[in-house]
Amino acid sequence: MSKNIFITRKIPDIAMSMLEGKGYVVDVNTEDRILSKQEIISHLKQKPYDAVVSLLTDQIDKEIFDASDSVKIVANYATGFDNIDLDEAKIKGVIITNAPASLSAIAVAQHTIAFMMALATHIVEADDFIRNGKYHGWEPMHFLGINLAGKTLGLIGAGRIGERVALYASGLGLKIIYTDIKQCERLEQECGAVYYEKLDELLPLADFISIHVPLMPSTQHLFNKGKINLMKKSAYLINTSRGPVIDEASLVEALKNKVIAGAGLDVFEFEPELTPGLVDLPNAILTPHIASANQDARDEMASIVAQNIIDFFEGKVPQNILNK
Ligand code: GLV
Ligand code: GLV
Repeated sequence: MSKNIFITRKIPDIAMSMLEGKGYVVDVNTEDRILSKQEIISHLKQKPYDAVVSLLTDQIDKEIFDASDSVKIVANYATGFDNIDLDEAKIKGVIITNAPASLSAIAVAQHTIAFMMALATHIVEADDFIRNGKYHGWEPMHFLGINLAGKTLGLIGAGRIGERVALYASGLGLKIIYTDIKQCERLEQECGAVYYEKLDELLPLADFISIHVPLMPSTQHLFNKGKINLMKKSAYLINTSRGPVIDEASLVEALKNKVIAGAGLDVFEFEPELTPGLVDLPNAILTPHIASANQDARDEMASIVAQNIIDFFEGKVPQNILNK
């Protein structure tokens, strides 16, 4: 039976071709921008849609579920799903899926390593220095960085992304320590990672801390002033997960006062807004939520999204169901 699918913003074509290949009617928001909640609601009222493909920038909550009785599945085009009210979906009987593509885990891990390298070598500041006409000859003591080999990386979260970061980082000669709700034996075997049950015990030991946890009530502001103060003065904090895991105002203060050495941030507490002062800090490297932004990763995410919807309509349990 034909189905109506609404996609809140253009994603790679593979999703549309897979869904249209099943005879479904696919409507994609034609404007190349994030829709407001009201705009999504008015789209949903135009047709009895059976499925919605949402982005991490769409807040999918009671108001959206109330706007359409026909929508039976919302497939989020992201690994994260903190933008969706799962409890409300369950009440309404709407199935929610995410898209944890293995190629996007690789992309995010690669971006994390890029932050570590950029922080260790001052690449961003040094590029800026040259472009601003400040290079007048080699200097023996200029832009001194650090070697990653022999340093310690503390991972907060050892899921697919954290594990991949550990593999890459151990190849660069870093020692890996990690914390998670549960111990990951594979990680320990693969790269000799050492488990710390308590975040507070891990924080003072690491030269780099990298965050790979989902945003949940228990991880919101996990990095507050107290936790940042436990880090080494020479340490760097990297976040490619979700902005609100860090209390950004406290981080800006800490970076300003050199409580820690620097930060690499791909996500922000109030994105796209930035906490005042953040952009003025020379010891922070900032990227606009692009850690998974490469074509291979996005194509795999798009095909996962489409497959979850197809499986659901064909009576199978979608592989990435979040609220069984
Ligand atoms: C990106 O942030 C994602 O969750 O896929
Ligand atoms: C910060 O911007 C650095 O390059 O260390």
